[in-house]
Amino acid sequence: MKRIVLILGIASIFASCAKESLDALAGRVYDLASYQLVLMDSNLPQGRLPKTLDEGGELVTSDIKWWCSGFYPGSLCFAAMHTENLKLAALADKYTHYLDTLSRAKNSHDIGFMLNCSFGNHLLLFPEQAAADSLVLREGADRLASRFSPVTGTTRSWDFGKWKYPVIIDNMMNLELLMKFGTPEQQEMAISHADRTIANHFRDDYTTWHVVDYDPESGEVIKKQTHQGYSDDSAWSRGQAWALYGFTMMAVQCNEKGYPEASARFKAQAEKVAEMLLQRLPADGIPEWDFDAPEPALKDASAGAIMASAFVQLAGITRGSLSRRCITMAEKQLRTLASPRYLCEKGECKGFILKHSVGNMPKNGEVDVPLTYADYYFLEALMRISEK
Ligand code: GLY
Repeated sequence: MKRIVLILGIASIFASCAKESLDALAGRVYDLASYQLVLMDSNLPQGRLPKTLDEGGELVTSDIKWWCSGFYPGSLCFAAMHTENLKLAALADKYTHYLDTLSRAKNSHDIGFMLNCSFGNHLLLFPEQAAADSLVLREGADRLASRFSPVTGTTRSWDFGKWKYPVIIDNMMNLELLMKFGTPEQQEMAISHADRTIANHFRDDYTTWHVVDYDPESGEVIKKQTHQGYSDDSAWSRGQAWALYGFTMMAVQCNEKGYPEASARFKAQAEKVAEMLLQRLPADGIPEWDFDAPEPALKDASAGAIMASAFVQLAGITRGSLSRRCITMAEKQLRTLASPRYLCEKGECKGFILKHSVGNMPKNGEVDVPLTYADYYFLEALMRISEK
């Protein structure tokens, strides 16, 4: 009897020390996400979408024009696909259709985020609605393409502020809409934008500036600055994440759409950015909100989640040691995000999934809070790594 108790005791110690498998981790997070995303629906006023939590922990919402409006519908699509839960599928359908009129609204440089993350995933969840979804996505691509200038060779970002023709590194993400749903001419625009970004946004160490302001008459660069980072010359973490994700995505898309040379250029750029990040990321894989912010600086879970998703994709198209190091880093980031430090508990956070992101530190906006895009890219990364 004593022997059996001893064996059982040792077995339970081993079991508690054993590393959770990635499949088990993804299952645990998707179980939680399924609960949280439904809870979020019950907290949302009619017609509104989640944005963040305020200082008192209350839900802050947005209309469909906020650049993040596609992330909650997109997260619902991921959860519905992963769990095959009909309630989640119905919510994914409901919230995606909130965005029906966006492709005809006043154009926005972020129409790619908004439509690709919502309708782009809805299309996969509801193949029978593919024709209608494709129409919205194609209209969205037309809208984004109308912001392209052949003089600068880029799509324009903001219509506000002190700049003449600002282009932000974030806009690499919007190119996915042009590549997937645009005409060949619009795909060439996306390639041009990415090439100009390689030429003008990167420093010698492969960190990126946030904003490059162009002269719209000559196409020359006027200045390079930050808007959400610590300083003009610092490496704002989410900007570095957009760069890694954006160039990896462009390498994949160009390969699929028959632009092998462009694909090779963008893959090489993604690999350089990855090498830089692998050197600079901390032991737990989650960067502070700016790599150059004075210590101690707050962590940004959103940057960690975006990078994790990109690292998994890059690992699939690159070879050898870099591929292995990308997967190791993605796994580390996902394990950290799935730990109690970052993961909301069931019923907590009003239905968000991750804590501790930073939206806009210089403006003291959305500091150390949940954000919809952190949740979206976390779920995407887990789907991607589970499929490997
Ligand atoms: N695209 C806006 C941001 O990353 O905050």
